Amino acid sequence: MKKRVFFALLFTFFLLFSISAVGNASAAQFTQQDFTSQSYCGTCHRTLYDQWSQSLHAKAFSDPIFYSVMNVAIADMGGKDSDGGKLIQDYCLHCHTPIGSLTGDIPPTTATSTNAISCDFCHTVSDISGVGNGSYINSPGILKRGPFKDSFSPAHETVYSELHIKSEFCGMCHDVYHPVNGLPLETTYTEWKQSPYAAEGTTCQHCMMGSQNNARAAVDGPLRSLIKTHEFTGANVTLGKRDVAENRLKHAASIQMKTNKTEADPKEKVKLTISITNTSAGHKIPTGLTEVREMWLEVKAIDSGNNEQTIFKEEYKTVLEDDKGVHDGHVPVWRAVKVFSDNRIGPKEKRTYKKELMIPAETSGKMTIVAVLKYRSASPSLTRSLGFDDFPVIEMAKTQKDITVTNTGSLASPCRILSVILISAITAVGGAGFMLRIRHGT
Ligand code: HEC
Ligand code: HEC
Ligand code: HEC
Ligand code: HEC
Repeated sequence: MKKRVFFALLFTFFLLFSISAVGNASAAQFTQQDFTSQSYCGTCHRTLYDQWSQSLHAKAFSDPIFYSVMNVAIADMGGKDSDGGKLIQDYCLHCHTPIGSLTGDIPPTTATSTNAISCDFCHTVSDISGVGNGSYINSPGILKRGPFKDSFSPAHETVYSELHIKSEFCGMCHDVYHPVNGLPLETTYTEWKQSPYAAEGTTCQHCMMGSQNNARAAVDGPLRSLIKTHEFTGANVTLGKRDVAENRLKHAASIQMKTNKTEADPKEKVKLTISITNTSAGHKIPTGLTEVREMWLEVKAIDSGNNEQTIFKEEYKTVLEDDKGVHDGHVPVWRAVKVFSDNRIGPKEKRTYKKELMIPAETSGKMTIVAVLKYRSASPSLTRSLGFDDFPVIEMAKTQKDITVTNTGSLASPCRILSVILISAITAVGGAGFMLRIRHGT
């Protein structure tokens, strides 16, 4: 009964919301003919096209993980033909296939829609209606908006657009709020906005669109000292460019570890200070879909016989809570009413832990303490439930310290006792002899 009331409310909210904010899908603003296919843009902008076609923007609809999660959401909201199912589909596709949404082609059927976040979508955005939830306003047509003030193209008109070089352009979609209760679900833009990078004027484009020096933006275009690449590689090593994504992950954070000694006896305590720093990400790590992404710190001690002992493990993520107070790590975004916890590491933030390692009694030789920060795009429990292989685990940062287990304490004490006895005995014998010699006058 309670559940039914909740869903009735949810549907009403969804209906109201769809009319007010995301209703673009049903109320088509444009036709498919208003947008140009990316393959046409690619005839002149070849390099940019090749880069873009490998990006997650090109795959935002065909991405099998996205597609599967959306289908789970649709089923959970009442199925494909129900109002709830349709509304959630409209909501997801508003960002994952914006041209489909703008032209009412939902679920998308044409290549222009299924190629998701494409050239002509981004370069006809003329304004924003706020930040997040797909706040784009488009003016499709012959005029293409971009970063140049002196651009001339034989194929289309060009105009300088300040919006395109600002983070707010990316913030249109890289901040996701629950459509009913407004709960922030993905906050990459806001994390940047509150960071030192925003204050110093370093934008999303600076880091997430690589730089190409002395290059042409189009085959017949002029040689320019700087243009931006269109790979849009983040942390997704499975669907994005693996080497670039891995490299990004390996440069995002660093680990420092100190120990209060480098030699220790068995059963002695070694004090550890471990710090991890978000050195280079302009947002929290992890970011985006952080109830799904996995990042964790593992600190282990390994002895010379390869026996491992976990000293400490910490996961960094957001945990969502549903309306029944459940926060078991499996609450899907569409059922979330609250962020139960969030312990992710902010831009330039350093997190320090003080821990202790008790050297086991039987240890001798070398003991290695290893601290590793690891990342995986999604948990095996999620990928397996959707029928996919496990995502690879990437090592973001690693450091280690050796402790020499000397056994000085346990070996020295019997020796020390023995030597004390011996010295005392020699002294006693020697002393007695001396006294005797004095007495006898020799
Ligand atoms: C997610 C949105 C997005 C998509 C998709 C996209 N662009 Fe861009 N593009 C941008 C932004 C933002 C800039 C400006 C970057 C800057 O200078 O800060 C840009 C810059 C450009 C430029 C200027 C040269 C340069 O690279 O800096 C050209 C030309 C261009 N894009 C063409 C294309 C073409 C062709 C495609 C499709 C193959 C495409 N874009 C796809 C957002 C996009
Ligand atoms: C406001 C725009 C927006 C809306 C609406 C949206 N998404 Fe996304 N989605 C994104 C962005 C941006 C990312 C990339 C996040 C990141 O960096 O981790 C993403 C990523 C994802 C991913 C991860 C894909 C992968 O391969 O790792 C899944 C799954 C996903 N979205 C599902 C959904 C579902 C289901 C819905 C509807 C309930 C939805 N999204 C609605 C913007 C949106
Ligand atoms: C016939 C070749 C050709 C085609 C087709 C073409 N362009 Fe261009 N485009 C150019 C040239 C040349 C420039 C100028 C490059 C420069 O100034 O460095 C240009 C510039 C641009 C710019 C930069 C504008 C600015 O002021 O910053 C954007 C954005 C752009 N094109 C997008 C597109 C999109 C989107 C498509 C497909 C709908 C497309 N182009 C199709 C040749 C073409
Ligand atoms: C129309 C909405 C939209 C806009 C505008 C947009 N993005 Fe995205 N972006 C997405 C979606 C959706 C995904 C996730 C696709 C997927 O994984 O299925 C994504 C993925 C990405 C990824 C890959 C994330 C990963 O996990 O590897 C990067 C990087 C990225 N976007 C950067 C940018 C930047 C930089 C801008 C601004 C220049 C921008 N995006 C503008 C919707 C958008």
